[in-house]
Amino acid sequence: MGKQGEQIVSKKPQKTAADLRSARWVAPDDLRSFGHRSRLMQMGYGPEDWVGKPFIGILNTWSDLNPCHAHFRDRAEDVKRGVLQAGGIPLEMPAISVDESFTKPTSMMYRNLLAMETEEQIRSHPLDGVVLMGGCDKTTPGLVMGALTAGVPMIYLPAGPMLRGNYAGQVLGSGSDAWKYWDERRAGTITDAQWQGVEGGIARSYGTCMTMGTASTMTAIAEAMGLCLPNASSIPAPDAGHKRMASGCGRRIVDMVWEDLTPDQIVTPSAIRNAAIVAMATGCSTNAVIHLLAMARRAGVDLTLDDLDALGRTTPLICNVRPSGKDYLMEDFFYAGGLRALMAQLTDRLDTSAITVTGKTLGETLEGAEVYNDDVIRPLSNPVYHEGSLAVLRGNLCPDGAVIKPAACDQKFQQHQGPALVFDSYPEMKAAIDDEDLDVTPDTVMVLRNAGPLGGPGMPEWGMLPIPKALIKQGHRDMLRISDARMSGTSYGACVLHVAPESFIGGPLALLRTGDVIRLDIPNRSLDMLVDDAELEARRAAWAPPPQPFERGYGWMFAQHVTQADQGCDFDFLTAAFGRPAGEPDI
Ligand code: FES
Ligand code: MG
Repeated sequence: MGKQGEQIVSKKPQKTAADLRSARWVAPDDLRSFGHRSRLMQMGYGPEDWVGKPFIGILNTWSDLNPCHAHFRDRAEDVKRGVLQAGGIPLEMPAISVDESFTKPTSMMYRNLLAMETEEQIRSHPLDGVVLMGGCDKTTPGLVMGALTAGVPMIYLPAGPMLRGNYAGQVLGSGSDAWKYWDERRAGTITDAQWQGVEGGIARSYGTCMTMGTASTMTAIAEAMGLCLPNASSIPAPDAGHKRMASGCGRRIVDMVWEDLTPDQIVTPSAIRNAAIVAMATGCSTNAVIHLLAMARRAGVDLTLDDLDALGRTTPLICNVRPSGKDYLMEDFFYAGGLRALMAQLTDRLDTSAITVTGKTLGETLEGAEVYNDDVIRPLSNPVYHEGSLAVLRGNLCPDGAVIKPAACDQKFQQHQGPALVFDSYPEMKAAIDDEDLDVTPDTVMVLRNAGPLGGPGMPEWGMLPIPKALIKQGHRDMLRISDARMSGTSYGACVLHVAPESFIGGPLALLRTGDVIRLDIPNRSLDMLVDDAELEARRAAWAPPPQPFERGYGWMFAQHVTQADQGCDFDFLTAAFGRPAGEPDI
């Protein structure tokens, strides 16, 4: 963060009190407004609390089942302090927490539910501006997607990463070290006591995963889009600076209301491009692809997988934070200068004229940013990896695309050919994987299908398929894997993900058989099965769709309307291009 209070720009009111959206609820001398005012008074507020003051919603994704947001009840108080200081009325409201740790079948099923809730909470209530409190993976895109559609001034308050993990003097990284030590346990190289030590040491404080997983990627994206106070996304959750940032959000949103600084002025095509470049430079989670596509579409920007691949080819990965980087975690990243310092390395590539929630340009917010450790935040001349972290593949196995994270896999898989070993479901794979007689070699390509947006359902993070025990015992820790699933942002390895269209709806992945040869060529961005067209046609004629997992409720609605991975997995009826805007309540 910059100097305390630096983010508060002078008030340049463009709105008067009579223009406030909330005034429609509380200003008229009629029966409805009498009802609204009397109900405010029921809560102990008097006219001095609200007359002429912006109503600021604080959308809080706190939950006792979301360890990453455990500090949010406390932080909401800091936001309220800031709102009051700046002359607003703070109104905290709950929103579904979409925790990554406990939600089954997968949190991804509920990102769109949070987006809908956010949009409708804002639209239906007397709010002039909102502070969005999120951080755990899906909460960032969910909140941002909904608020982009709702259109009132908004500011994003990222939960902040948790402290570094620690066990027996070893630094532990969220996710990454869980997978690593699990493989060691399966290989029999660590004891039960050591395994339990890792369990107790890998998550030591509230806050989001402290690798550059999906949470840190998405909060970095929100900041690069201009939706956060400068460097907010890098502050560790338990740092006192995080509380000061929270109160800063409260102060700033009040001014944003008066300035009428709406999200459409911030989330422009330039801002989305900036966010994608920053994502690539951080070694972003593959999940960023889906969420960026979905957020862009909410902003009316037609971002495509090919746009992201083009940016991936030209953006060096300069953030040495695991899993794409080798050595460091988010706490180190903050001490090294944080996202401001990283973005300052990229000013030649970013559109620094983009306006941020500060009311200043991105370039102005980056002035004076310094790197304090150039092994953590590398100069462009010494990147961790020469290209950005994502590559988009196409071919007869994935005509609508698939993604891989080349920086996070063994480089021998840049070009690879091998026989497929195909599993139709996660339980089928799980049952086979520990069979030491499983017919696999290091060249085998393991495939899991029916794990996409509809098939999973909800596109679970199964894409880092476990290495068969037979190979683990031979010392192998990576192999080529393919699925229509996602994978955790903390995962690594030669994993091709997001195959589209997914097999569940008859994508070509559904036609693949064990023994078919698969060819991957990352430099040429291709992924194919070497099966001729006539044979594929014969297989297609014999293919029948699997039964739907949900016959009622949200799951049924999800299945009717979710789009494929290359479209961002939003509901088709929520994108900016669908239908007339919902408009404002006028009764
Ligand atoms: Fe919440 Fe990783 S589980 S950020
Ligand atoms: Mg995750």
